[in-house]
Amino acid sequence: MVTTLLSLLLLLPCLSSAADPTVNADLRFSYKTLSPLGLPQRVIAVNGDFPGPFINVTTNNNVNVNVHNDLDEDLLVTWSGIQMRRDAWEDGVIGTNCPIPPKWNWTYQFQVKDQIGSFFYFPSLNFQRASGGFGPIVVNNRNIIPIPFAQPDGDIFIIIGDWYTQTHTALRTTLDGGKDIGIPDGVLINGKGPYQYNTTLVPAGIDYETIRVDPGKTYRLRVHNVGISTSLNFRIQNHNLLLAETEGHYTIQTNFTDFDIHAGQSYSFLLSTDQNASTDYYIVASARFVNGSAWDRVTGVAILHYSNSQGKASGPLPPPPDDIYNPGYSMNQAKSVRQNTSASGARPNPQGSFHYGSINITDTYLLQVVPPVTIKGNVRATINGVSFNKPSVPFRLADLHKLRGIYKLDFPSKPMNKAPVIDTSLINATYKGFIEIVLQNNDTTVQNFHLDGYSFFVVGMDFGNWSENSRGSYNKWDAISRCTTQVYPGGWTAILISLDNVGTWNLRSENLDRWFLGQETYMRIVNPEENGETEMPPPDHVLYCGPLKNLQKQQNHSSSAVSAFGGNLLLSLLLALFAAIFMCN
Ligand SMILES: *[C@@H]1O[C@H](CO)[C@@H](O)[C@H](O)[C@H]1NC(C)=O
Ligand SMILES: *[C@@H]1O[C@H](CO)[C@@H](O)[C@H](O)[C@H]1NC(C)=O
Ligand SMILES: *[C@@H]1O[C@H](CO)[C@@H](O)[C@H](O)[C@H]1NC(C)=O
Ligand SMILES: *[C@@H]1O[C@H](CO)[C@@H](O)[C@H](O)[C@H]1NC(C)=O
Ligand SMILES: *[C@@H]1O[C@H](CO)[C@@H](O)[C@H](O)[C@H]1NC(C)=O
Ligand SMILES: *[C@@H]1O[C@H](CO)[C@@H](O)[C@H](O)[C@H]1NC(C)=O
Ligand SMILES: *[C@@H]1O[C@H](CO)[C@@H](O)[C@H](O)[C@H]1NC(C)=O
Ligand SMILES: *[C@@H]1O[C@H](CO)[C@@H](O)[C@H](O)[C@H]1NC(C)=O
Ligand SMILES: *[C@@H]1O[C@H](CO)[C@@H](O)[C@H](O)[C@H]1NC(C)=O
Ligand SMILES: *[C@@H]1O[C@H](CO)[C@@H](O)[C@H](O)[C@H]1NC(C)=O
Ligand SMILES: *[C@@H]1O[C@H](CO)[C@@H](O)[C@H](O)[C@H]1NC(C)=O
Repeated sequence: MVTTLLSLLLLLPCLSSAADPTVNADLRFSYKTLSPLGLPQRVIAVNGDFPGPFINVTTNNNVNVNVHNDLDEDLLVTWSGIQMRRDAWEDGVIGTNCPIPPKWNWTYQFQVKDQIGSFFYFPSLNFQRASGGFGPIVVNNRNIIPIPFAQPDGDIFIIIGDWYTQTHTALRTTLDGGKDIGIPDGVLINGKGPYQYNTTLVPAGIDYETIRVDPGKTYRLRVHNVGISTSLNFRIQNHNLLLAETEGHYTIQTNFTDFDIHAGQSYSFLLSTDQNASTDYYIVASARFVNGSAWDRVTGVAILHYSNSQGKASGPLPPPPDDIYNPGYSMNQAKSVRQNTSASGARPNPQGSFHYGSINITDTYLLQVVPPVTIKGNVRATINGVSFNKPSVPFRLADLHKLRGIYKLDFPSKPMNKAPVIDTSLINATYKGFIEIVLQNNDTTVQNFHLDGYSFFVVGMDFGNWSENSRGSYNKWDAISRCTTQVYPGGWTAILISLDNVGTWNLRSENLDRWFLGQETYMRIVNPEENGETEMPPPDHVLYCGPLKNLQKQQNHSSSAVSAFGGNLLLSLLLALFAAIFMCN
């Protein structure tokens, strides 16, 4: 039987994806009580771990992730930065997937097509990321593709983020009540609170993270800011951080003593363990652009411990940049992140071979954000005066079932001069267009934006209002391509996107509070021609909800079922077969 299946696989006409190996994973989301900042609180663990386990895949792998929802509320998991070619059905946001009900499981099936890099997953609904549920994803290069640096001696994950001792449900209630969630209670590093570097600021008995290294080596640090909204300055005492990759593209390698990582962003740094280990060293992630002693505690401190270390870290933390009122240094640092155009990415041709700077722009969207506003008595966050109203059913499922009135395609392409509204309004974007999006931040804090399904070129950033003349300052040669970017308060960021991936793709604020209050939309990109570049069909096991709820078969959820695939070759093969058929469609 196995042999038959294997030969069936080999006989399939569409070999390219069928031949790519399949990786299976089970992720079980459940509550757990932990005390990262010293007080017991309920967090979201994955497979019992907080943060969750890492997903280790290689370019072009087919990935099946069976997500089990042991929470008491709906769950969707999104794979931030994974591009889901023509396959938004697996993207795990409310406009593309029906939620996985409590006690149910759902298997995401996607291919990490033509990608490399450091990404992360997280629960996308109901402010859950504020309680955890996140973990790293690594997409390794294929063996035949060289990486633009010597093979590191090890990979180290560092997950940083601001943290509240309240649960996501309590924080949600605060936001729903029109209030600000206030100053975070701390910063966690790999789910742990700070090392007691100061007895006034850090109580005794907090479990802190220790990163163990050997002297004379080079490690690849994959750092992700999974927090709610705080921009963090990341630094390691006495060590340089050699920036090497961000969100799937290799950068010009540059040393930094400290680096700003904003909410939702991912970076790889190469760390040389070249110090004499007279002591351990502090690893710090501290709140950026804030003022006042209440923010002192919003500092994550972990320990870099050499195997030949002579003693504990002590004394003051390495200082942050001294410029809280002038984000110019930070913006210049961001602008210095450029793509290494001679390095190969996922394919054996240089990643900079796409000459984006000489392509004519087909459409411009000027998207402005302002501080939250009151609309019909509710405090909401907007883009161009529109606060997103979540749909009752995913957009393309609605299209397939000819449901009308689920959404509109009238998202304004510039700020409106009228009262803000709450609406399910999407951007009607043109397939194969090459668009410019200018993000104008009239809010008072750094705002971060992420686009699913794509990488975009970050071509410009400045303070003040964007104008057509600003285009003269764009980087048209080696702008970094990534999927999340910051926009400084009182400033703008311009991105260019080649719209080659069909589907409805979420464009959202990565500041979780703003996102929760409606600062998002979707871009609907449909190929008008039936030429093989259309979207994939929904998977057979697609979930139904809202007006399509009665199409949903009930799921038998006996609690004993753990893994459908674990070690079961036949089932894996069957799945690969389905995946193959799926890919060929
Ligand atoms: C991840 O997968 C790659 C390729 O299969 C392997 O070489 C590497 O050791 C794995 N990493 C870890 C930490 O397991
Ligand atoms: C999990 O989900 C998949 C499809 O989404 C299904 O085939 C499988 O039987 C489910 N059940 C368990 C217990 O994993
Ligand atoms: C860019 O990539 C090339 C090719 O891998 C590598 O040799 C070079 O060192 C990299 N340059 C910089 C400045 O990072
Ligand atoms: C600890 O932090 C407090 C409050 O910021 C500060 O006043 C004190 O000087 C610090 N102590 C040391 C030893 O640095
Ligand atoms: C970065 O700093 C390290 C020392 O920490 C040094 O060995 C390396 O040559 C520097 N690399 C670049 C590109 O500046
Ligand atoms: C190790 O380096 C530190 C600072 O770089 C220096 O102060 C210290 O004297 C050195 N210790 C030894 C034993 O070389
Ligand atoms: C923080 O801001 C207040 C008011 O803007 C100012 O009075 C105070 O000096 C600032 N504190 C620091 C440490 O800069
Ligand atoms: C871009 O637009 C210019 C006019 O603005 C035109 O001359 C040129 O041919 C266009 N290039 C392409 C590749 O379409
Ligand atoms: C969306 O844009 C396409 C052209 O790209 C146009 O044909 C269509 O009418 C637009 N739809 C709406 C509802 O505006
Ligand atoms: C930017 O534009 C707004 C209107 O959107 C205007 O009120 C403001 O004065 C402008 N700021 C600058 C620096 O020109
Ligand atoms: C926001 O816009 C208003 C006027 O529209 C302007 O007065 C204010 O300076 C702007 N603030 C920021 C942070 O851009």
